[in-house]
Amino acid sequence: MEIIKSFTFGGFPSRAVLYDKQDLLPEDTALFVADSHTKSLISRPEGLAEVILTPGEEGKQWDAVDKILKLAMKEGLARDSVICGAGGGVVTDMTAFAGSLYMRGCRVILIPTSLLAMVDAALGGKTGIDAGVYKNMIGSFYPAEEVRICPEILGDLPEKEYRNGLGEVLKTAIIGDAALLNLIKERRESVLARDPEVLAQIIRRCILVKGALVEEDLREKGRRAFLNLGHTFGHALEAVSEFRWSHGAGVVWGMGKALEASVRLGLAKPAWADEMKQLFLDYGYELEAPEDPVGILEAMKMDKKKQRGKLRYILPAGPQDIRIEFLDPDFVLEVLKA
Ligand code: GLY
Repeated sequence: MEIIKSFTFGGFPSRAVLYDKQDLLPEDTALFVADSHTKSLISRPEGLAEVILTPGEEGKQWDAVDKILKLAMKEGLARDSVICGAGGGVVTDMTAFAGSLYMRGCRVILIPTSLLAMVDAALGGKTGIDAGVYKNMIGSFYPAEEVRICPEILGDLPEKEYRNGLGEVLKTAIIGDAALLNLIKERRESVLARDPEVLAQIIRRCILVKGALVEEDLREKGRRAFLNLGHTFGHALEAVSEFRWSHGAGVVWGMGKALEASVRLGLAKPAWADEMKQLFLDYGYELEAPEDPVGILEAMKMDKKKQRGKLRYILPAGPQDIRIEFLDPDFVLEVLKA
């Protein structure tokens, strides 16, 4: 194992660590959580208490958390027992949420198995479940004490899932790491081929950028919101398209729209915005959506981050220069139509 970095998130110690695949499961795991796709990725002893969840966003509901809590009680877990969750963002969010509730918080160790969960979801303490169609409405801030990373696992990740994660990697590079942005530009073939050495560098750099923002702002009162770049536009597109657009594709499309807004506001230089958009196209992402701009705007108005009739957007003004702006809906509609 190799520690990528130890952090303190709002007083909670948390660290990101690289492990070999065979060593991923913590020895003192008392309860293991995975889904039916990820359970086979982690070898574990016979008889270990486990909850195997239904994969996908539909399963991110209270019932699943209840199952984890009930088994924790049945097995007699204590506050210093380890619940280990192995999976994508849905599994890691739910495991950490259950861990935050059990005896007011027991030990949680996460093994993200998707690129998105490695570079974003598993680190930084956002936990939770959906409430009906409302995503992440119920949850807590409860960082895992350790996030165990094994890039080798990504070899078998479906392409759509891999591209979901790459969208967040592009976002992280624009927010906070010029060297990562160069790596993504210069090593496109290796990135798309999932070269393990390049992937390890990418994951490490994303963890350092995200970790620094969360150390400063666990509860998203300020700069942690930069991590939502492309998400206000992207979530609305995902919802309006009834999730035909995947999360990563929606976020990259949303970054295209955020760049457009920045240029129109005189925040970003047109040449830089065009360069970023070309990079997204080179990676095979779509920057044009057939969905109705009025419908997308209505979906954004449902977004909870509103202030005096204006919607909050994270806008890139330049490389690693991110602004938070409240925009008029009429202006946003023009951007959506562009
Ligand atoms: N995924 C964004 C955040 O953790 O703040």
